[in-house]
Amino acid sequence: MWTTGFVLASGLASHALGAKLIASHFSGPVYTLDLTLTNATSGTLKVAGQTSGCGRIPAWLTVDKASNSVYCFDESWYGSGVLAQFSADADAKLTLKSSAPTLGNSVYGSLYGGSDDKSFVITAEYSPSTITTYKLPLSASSKPLQKLEWTMAKPGPRPDRQDKPHPHSAFMDPSKKFMVVPDLGADVTRIFKINKASGELTPCPVAASHPGDGPRHGEFVETAAGLRYYSLNEVASSVGVYNATYAGDGGCLALDLTQTLSTLGDRAGKTTEKAAELRVAGGYLYASNRNDQTFGKEQDSLAVFKIDGADGKLAFQELTNSHGYYPRPFEVNKAGTLVAIGGQTTANVAIVARDAATGKLGPLVANVNLPPRGTYGGEDGLSAVVWYE
Ligand SMILES: *[C@@H]1O[C@H](CO)[C@@H](O)[C@H](O)[C@H]1NC(C)=O
Ligand SMILES: *[C@@H]1O[C@H](CO)[C@@H](O)[C@H](O)[C@H]1NC(C)=O
Repeated sequence: MWTTGFVLASGLASHALGAKLIASHFSGPVYTLDLTLTNATSGTLKVAGQTSGCGRIPAWLTVDKASNSVYCFDESWYGSGVLAQFSADADAKLTLKSSAPTLGNSVYGSLYGGSDDKSFVITAEYSPSTITTYKLPLSASSKPLQKLEWTMAKPGPRPDRQDKPHPHSAFMDPSKKFMVVPDLGADVTRIFKINKASGELTPCPVAASHPGDGPRHGEFVETAAGLRYYSLNEVASSVGVYNATYAGDGGCLALDLTQTLSTLGDRAGKTTEKAAELRVAGGYLYASNRNDQTFGKEQDSLAVFKIDGADGKLAFQELTNSHGYYPRPFEVNKAGTLVAIGGQTTANVAIVARDAATGKLGPLVANVNLPPRGTYGGEDGLSAVVWYE
């Protein structure tokens, strides 16, 4: 049954049978996409706008709908980059509002701190092994507030990927008092106390993954048994489940690993496969696999897991078609009825239906190609896609 979304949506005016998305391409453009639905499983996805201003290699997008803002992070490895804030109009068309110079190589960014929890921005730099913070609003004269850099005495179990620390993302925990930084190179999730007023980060003890996991992204979920943290491990193509506890006032957030499951079902990931994104929606967890080609040539998969409401443990359900090659980003819409999936190498955005009751991902609803395609295994093609809602 794929009726949930249509029933919900058809209660609205007919022009509301659609949605806006923002996508970025590693070659520079940032796109506004229009999704128009004819019914729950069929529609069209079109480019409605295109802009630049996120430097040479836009890699990541963060939406703050309350301020009609889209933040974009530049992975430029040419020694300098930008951190850009775009304003979105009523049609989600973007205009560059402000930007700050960076040293480049940012693969992720998010907002945190202040009385609104969005007075500062943090970026994660993959190759320089750093995280950097800035005060908002951005300007041409913005300077880093704090920069933390890590080194390793020797490479990790996968020396080709784990030659040194590679912080891959940085985001707040649900209490918004801690910053969480998965480090793909060092096999740890770094944790920091946030000074809300100053934006300053103070280190807490790190949470270990299994050697060779290569944590990349993560999400928290409140279960009946307490708070859980789910880690997407890129190097091992697995998902780690952690108990998350607060030691008390003045204490730190602690993560304890309780379960690890492959994102490929009954087999382990190969060294040519790289899991990328993890998202939780309504009691289900989804993870994307790059280069498994489970559904045919250049047709990689998304893994579906059910979250046990009582203890937060995961049960693998199935693999479904991502309708692209190297599904780097994907995101579930707020209603839980559609999933936007970005194929990095195929440089496409596919929309698939999601049954909000069963968590199943269904037929392809719409697709758009945003050329140029990426190259095999290259850091090019489509980089990010998010719902603007
Ligand atoms: C949805 O619309 C498409 C295109 O018009 C049509 O082929 C399909 O049968 C429709 N599906 C349903 C469930 O109405
Ligand atoms: C995680 O929490 C559960 C209770 O919710 C407990 O039974 C289990 O021992 C904990 N595991 C770890 C590794 O802390």
